[in-house]
Amino acid sequence: MRIGILTGGGDCPGLNAVIRAVVRKGEGIRGHQILGFHRGWRGVIDGEVTELTTEATRGLLRRGGTILRTSRTNPYKEAGSIESLQGTLAREHVDALIAIGGEDTLGVAHRLAGEGVRCVGVPKTIDNDLSATDYTFGFDTAVQIAAEALDRLHTTAESHDRVLVVEVMGRHAGWIALHSGLAGGADAILVPELPFDVDELAERLRHRHTRGAGYSIVVVAEGAVPLEGTMETQEAGVDDFGHVRLGGIAARLAPELEQRTGFETRVVVLGHLLRGGTPTAYDRILATRFGLAAVDAVDDGDFDIMVALRGTEIVRVPIADAVGQLKTVPPERLAEAEVFFG
Ligand code: F6P
Repeated sequence: MRIGILTGGGDCPGLNAVIRAVVRKGEGIRGHQILGFHRGWRGVIDGEVTELTTEATRGLLRRGGTILRTSRTNPYKEAGSIESLQGTLAREHVDALIAIGGEDTLGVAHRLAGEGVRCVGVPKTIDNDLSATDYTFGFDTAVQIAAEALDRLHTTAESHDRVLVVEVMGRHAGWIALHSGLAGGADAILVPELPFDVDELAERLRHRHTRGAGYSIVVVAEGAVPLEGTMETQEAGVDDFGHVRLGGIAARLAPELEQRTGFETRVVVLGHLLRGGTPTAYDRILATRFGLAAVDAVDDGDFDIMVALRGTEIVRVPIADAVGQLKTVPPERLAEAEVFFG
């Protein structure tokens, strides 16, 4: 068989580990030809493709980013793109396509499957916001990087008696903020799932300081929102899939806190640091298992499915189940960590 593979959406540590596993099993064991499309759906539309062999994919396990490059191209948005994409698949004699991506990339894979393209999905995103899988690879690495940053920020915040507002990615889900905040000992965690009250947060910091804590660390998810009418918010542009570009909440929150508390308040935006560099061992293993399972699904002729993690098992779920609804932090996880919500 000729199996196409692509990586779409934001990059994420572990993408190369999936590619490596697909090639090792698909080409090395099963004797398929693996075709790597460049820059997500863009490469399928434009016919930009390279054959991937075991030799060409050596040393990929620990490498961050994606050797295939990525884009947020939505072929359903540009007139004629679906026809070009179908033309490429026919010209390259692609029998099946393994799409590695989040909600957007897999949403396209699902629509294409409805039009007869044989697609298998592999879930990736540092945000961990895909439904139907317990975890996506990339999340563990992002949390680890953020937690290490928080450890470092504690010592400098303490030395200067400052409040540090640390912004993390995660889009409209608070997973990265919650996990890194818990692991990094944050004094307040603000997540999109629970609008925050800036007055209450300021009061809480003042209270901490009267009890002897000279500094505070506030972790804020980029998608966190203030309670209506309590703080100014900002409009932002949207991408090809209609997603608003987030970022900047820490910069807006810090002066509000400083004004209310009188404590010197500084901002740290971790941003793309959380997506860069080498994956953790956990993410390498999860990504590898997903890649191996994706090849099995292709060989079984099981399409329009996504490989997923349930407990410790890799299972297959309909792609539709993964992309229908965002997996946000459930109320019981928020209740569990209530003591840290500002
Ligand atoms: O989905 C991954 C993610 O890193 C989000 O956490 C963030 O909102 C977004 O991508 C940023 O995307 P870009 O790198 O295109 O600005």
